Amino acid sequence: MARTDTPGSPPQTPRCPAPKHFLTLPDFTADELNRVVGRAGVLKEMWRQGQHYEPLKGRTLAMVFELSSTRTRVSFEVGMHQLGGHALNLSPNDSQLGRGEPVEDTARVLSEMVDAVMIRTFDHDKVERFAAAASVPVINGMTGRFHPCQLLADMQTLVEVRGEIAGTTVAFVGDGHNMCNSYVRAAGLFGFELRVATPRGHEPDQGILPAPNVELVENPADAVDGADLLVTDVWSSMGHEGEEADRRTAFDGYQVTPALMDKAKPDALFMHCLPAHRGEEISDDMLDDPRSVAWVEAGNRLHSQKALLEFLLVA
Ligand code: CP
Repeated sequence: MARTDTPGSPPQTPRCPAPKHFLTLPDFTADELNRVVGRAGVLKEMWRQGQHYEPLKGRTLAMVFELSSTRTRVSFEVGMHQLGGHALNLSPNDSQLGRGEPVEDTARVLSEMVDAVMIRTFDHDKVERFAAAASVPVINGMTGRFHPCQLLADMQTLVEVRGEIAGTTVAFVGDGHNMCNSYVRAAGLFGFELRVATPRGHEPDQGILPAPNVELVENPADAVDGADLLVTDVWSSMGHEGEEADRRTAFDGYQVTPALMDKAKPDALFMHCLPAHRGEEISDDMLDDPRSVAWVEAGNRLHSQKALLEFLLVA
């Protein structure tokens, strides 16, 4: 990027054209989302064959984690490494964000030094404020409202195992929180039918409803009947600390079990973004059921996010 300094004036970083961010699925068109998902499968195959592909040599991703993570942290860090770049981790404890530096100031500073930023924080507004001030792409690594990166991996897994997304029926059973909200957003964009079964008071975000291809039901069996894919998430997500006992009561009857899966199509799949709480949202044996693809789904975080980084930084 050329500097635009004039003699005698302080150096200025020129404003870039607005960078493309990935804060929620509709930030991309349906075509762009399908391109990223398709490309994830290609990158996975190249990785399986041991091919080196390093289009991000010399590029850096800053990862801001205000909440815990295993999959998101490892997949972004390993993904940047495999693409020839570098990832650095900033937690509130070891950055000035934890001492109150405004997110807008942090966004402008990081934009001077790194090529993209991934943020995980509870407050979705904070990610939007960060992105508005940044001049590099910003990726939502999960907020209390949305987890779009997980949806890329889930859609990649559906294509990989079933061959198609459009025209399928997906059942989401459990808490209408960030994963459920992301499925609500995904249904119209990827062209699947979504049935959501939640207890009253735990429905998806009213601000994104009604949504194309989405039906809300109360009874899990009604959601799962004839479905191609059954998805759930924990009953107490990050941010619900202290509500665990009340939530176990509220979600009684919403546990996903092999018996509930039997109401879906015979070749239906089960996905869970993990971490899972066995004995709560899933029975002890659900992840080991042959219909579960949760481990493949977790591994696909790596490949789908490599495709996302390539799309944002190279394409
Ligand atoms: N699914 C998911 O985002 O996992 P982590 O919380 O471990 O990153």
